[in-house]
Amino acid sequence: PAAPTPDARPLLDWDQLADAVAHCTKCKLYATRTQGVLGVGDRDADWLILGEAPGADEDRQGEPFVGQAGKLLDAMLASIGLRRGQNVYIANVLKSRPPGNRNPEPDEIAACMPYLLNQIALIRPKIIVALGRFAAQTLLQTDEAIGRLRGRVHCFQGIPLVVTYHPAYLLRNLPDKARAWEDLCLARRTYASLTTE
Ligand code: URA
Repeated sequence: PAAPTPDARPLLDWDQLADAVAHCTKCKLYATRTQGVLGVGDRDADWLILGEAPGADEDRQGEPFVGQAGKLLDAMLASIGLRRGQNVYIANVLKSRPPGNRNPEPDEIAACMPYLLNQIALIRPKIIVALGRFAAQTLLQTDEAIGRLRGRVHCFQGIPLVVTYHPAYLLRNLPDKARAWEDLCLARRTYASLTTE
């Protein structure tokens, strides 16, 4: 995966960031996307939930996880007492949809990474949940398989990060839901231990 290089440019505020994403032409995806999808939720959230890239529904509506995978994500959040928009911010590694939902390419991830780093710097989440292999491998700079990354607490820029399966994957692989539940409980316990210190 492409390296999340620290961006030397000054931090953009939310309006500047939204404008930059809306008009972004830093990678080839601008030519095929309907719109950039910055993210949604509480900008002071303790929880950052990170997916891969907008799909067709998200590209149309301008909000992450509004399709089938989003319904399951809402249920996953509810299972640990969280609700979209309440202490939760949801974003993707890529802000533009890859055509046909193909995998993100390294140059696209590299071009988009400054937006995510800027978002994380503005939100200052207490915990990050990476959904699926792309979000996890990109932030953790590893090629390790998701099965090996899940089940433990990692660290991204000093922020605890828990990896779990992507809800779109879980829709096709129901038996892994039990493991995702364990991961979410691990995230919940990790968060609880931070906030009661
Ligand atoms: N899958 C993702 O990774 N992100 C979305 O926003 C929708 C589906």
